[in-house]
Amino acid sequence: MNNQTTQSRSIEQLVEGVLTSDGAGVKLTRVLSGKLQQRLDPFLMLDAFGSDVPDEYIAGFPDHPHRGFETVTYMLSGRMRHRDNAGHEGLLQNGDVQWMTAGRGLIHSEMPEQEHGVMEGFQLWLNLPAKSKMNAPWYQDFASSAIPEQLTASGVTVRVIAGSCDSMTGIITREDTEPLYLDIHLPAGATFTTALPETHNAFIYVYRGAVKVGETIVDSRRMGILSNTGDGVTLSATEDARLILLAGKPLNEPVVQYGPFVMNTQEEIHQALDDYRNGRFI
Ligand code: CO
Repeated sequence: MNNQTTQSRSIEQLVEGVLTSDGAGVKLTRVLSGKLQQRLDPFLMLDAFGSDVPDEYIAGFPDHPHRGFETVTYMLSGRMRHRDNAGHEGLLQNGDVQWMTAGRGLIHSEMPEQEHGVMEGFQLWLNLPAKSKMNAPWYQDFASSAIPEQLTASGVTVRVIAGSCDSMTGIITREDTEPLYLDIHLPAGATFTTALPETHNAFIYVYRGAVKVGETIVDSRRMGILSNTGDGVTLSATEDARLILLAGKPLNEPVVQYGPFVMNTQEEIHQALDDYRNGRFI
């Protein structure tokens, strides 16, 4: 697609993720957390969920707080309702995206509105720079039809959720972290190349089929962390494949996390807990 790249990044590490449950018992795979936060700065977390067993998702995520970062929920399939104490409410389904900037804090719930069928998608946590962590919360839903999408001559579909790819600009841009968030569908045998700034940390997560990056095959349900050498990445589908590609400009600031609070110092975490317990999240 973008033929301006001269050297593809390679896969530095494959990550399987950890099966866990969160909220009131939603089964999910935590692909990015802990030590990888530093390597993949400005990204803090990636959860992949996907199940057709209602017991694994029906309990949802009842009221819980966040402070200091942004959450991006991409719903591939299923219906989930968001409500928060800043007065926002929205229904997220089949291909929709929800972008929420927690900023100085809010309390929200994310509850399934289905009793059968598949619920599948991703939640990504994107850090905020220190100067923006205490900004007012912000929230927006984007219908699937609002997400720029392109079909290339080789049959590759690219959806641009954040950042820019070729001439398409996604639904969200951010100055400090410059996130790129693509959903890419490749038919077997197809190849896709996109530019990536060398400053940006980047990874792919394959959720259908498999792709090859250089000599490394990344199978379904695997994250491939991309090396920072090279000005782009070339993906080749060894079978019909679907994946998300994320890239972002590192903040290079200290990350101190306590559950749903991500700040720069321990003191700020104590403050967040105190504010939450004393009803100062709005
Ligand atoms: Co949440």
